[in-house]
Amino acid sequence: MTGDPLFDLSGRVAVVTGGVGQLGSVYTAGLAERGMNVAVFDVVAADLPEGVLAYEVDVTDRSAIEGALQAIEAEWGVPHLLVNNAGLDSPPDAPAEEVGPFESYPEESFDAVMDVNVKGAFLTSQVIGGAMAREGRGSIVNVSSIYGLLSPVQDLYAFRRERGDTFVKPVAYSVSKSAILNLTRYLATYWAKAGVRVNTLTLAGVWNDQPPEFLDAYNARAPMGRMLEAREALGAVVFLASDASSYVTGSNLVVDGGWSAW
Ligand SMILES: NC(=O)c1ccc[n+]([C@@H]2O[C@H](COP(=O)([O-])OP(=O)(O)OC[C@H]3O[C@@H](n4cnc5c(N)ncnc54)[C@H](O)[C@@H]3O)[C@@H](O)[C@H]2O)c1
Repeated sequence: MTGDPLFDLSGRVAVVTGGVGQLGSVYTAGLAERGMNVAVFDVVAADLPEGVLAYEVDVTDRSAIEGALQAIEAEWGVPHLLVNNAGLDSPPDAPAEEVGPFESYPEESFDAVMDVNVKGAFLTSQVIGGAMAREGRGSIVNVSSIYGLLSPVQDLYAFRRERGDTFVKPVAYSVSKSAILNLTRYLATYWAKAGVRVNTLTLAGVWNDQPPEFLDAYNARAPMGRMLEAREALGAVVFLASDASSYVTGSNLVVDGGWSAW
């Protein structure tokens, strides 16, 4: 589609976990438009662009990942790209029990977030990255967040507290997204000679019709004065998927509008 061989993805195979979600659906459509054969792993169903294959895969379930990989290999061959995008987070309007004080943050919530965000990326990397390494090529994009690089700014959620609610942006998401940074470095070096590149894509908060008080506070803290639009995350995925990034591995591509620059 670009006509530029550096960015040409046509005929290659991609797996996007959480491909039904806000960002995953943008990656899925954008990669399919660029000629990739895209398989989506998700726990919920949705209409997907023509030609995209949907697999009901919980990324915490290794046997489900193995089953889906077998089906993809039979259809298209070993994937060239894995986007570890499936994730759990608590939005600014999350229910009270999820967003109470750190001291009483529920252990089950910690486990659930770590399971999907960390163990999920670990298991899909084991299974699909392993197959890529046997082929001698591939690219894995692990999705992190500014909240994995830096602490959440708790003041952004002051509007909830001013309304009389308790609101603390929970700890598990930050811990899980930090773990992604070193999962990336570990795998990048482990598979460097096997031809599998592994990078982190760190994103700032994505605009999703958040409450206006939150948007005002967020935008005031953001150098660019606005949140990331979901479509603006696609270019980084295309870059990391393509031959344009052939010497890029173990890196953290930060798409945060300058959030971490001051
Ligand atoms: N939205 C943001 O502001 C933001 C900012 C930085 C990073 N991110 C990261 O980007 C990624 C996508 O975020 P999003 O905003 O599109 O979220 P989203 O909630 O819209 O999508 C996440 C998708 O993951 C799926 N999923 C959840 N658990 C799963 C499991 N066990 N197995 C398979 N699929 C599962 C969900 O069904 C959903 O379709 C996440 O990793 C998130 O942490 C998001």
